[in-house]
Amino acid sequence: MPHVYVLNGPNLNRLGTREPDIYGSTTFDELAADCVATGQALGLTVTVRQTNDESELIGWLHEAQDDGAAVVLNPAAFTHYSYALRDACAMLSAPLVEVHLSNPAAREEFRHTSVVSGVATGTIAGFGVDSYRLGLRAVAALLANAE
Ligand code: DQA
Repeated sequence: MPHVYVLNGPNLNRLGTREPDIYGSTTFDELAADCVATGQALGLTVTVRQTNDESELIGWLHEAQDDGAAVVLNPAAFTHYSYALRDACAMLSAPLVEVHLSNPAAREEFRHTSVVSGVATGTIAGFGVDSYRLGLRAVAALLANAE
């Protein structure tokens, strides 16, 4: 089964209690379990990780590059300013789907810029936990089309 990394940036470990009016009440552990189950249903092996550390997140993207694995990435606040993260994303050869729980385009102005979108295969935002389910479906479709 194809391997997909679902990588998450800062503060997403606080899901469930973090601004639930914006991010919902699903905890990070519940989200991770949902991604694994969604992946299984789609014929994908899913590894879910979260870090508050930019360097660690970049290291995981290098790992995905080495594995030739697809990535579903919620870069969280790094979305808006981390050129180092963008450069790591640009090295990936397999599909990269950027996901967001909220719709950053409908929020504060600093969230309207994503430095990642330009090197992603596509972006899914604003559907809560469904953004991840849709992201995994997009990866499954892209891999199937590439066969
Ligand atoms: C987020 C949106 C970002 O603007 C924010 O910094 C996050 C979460 C989302 O999933 O909606 O941490 O990526």
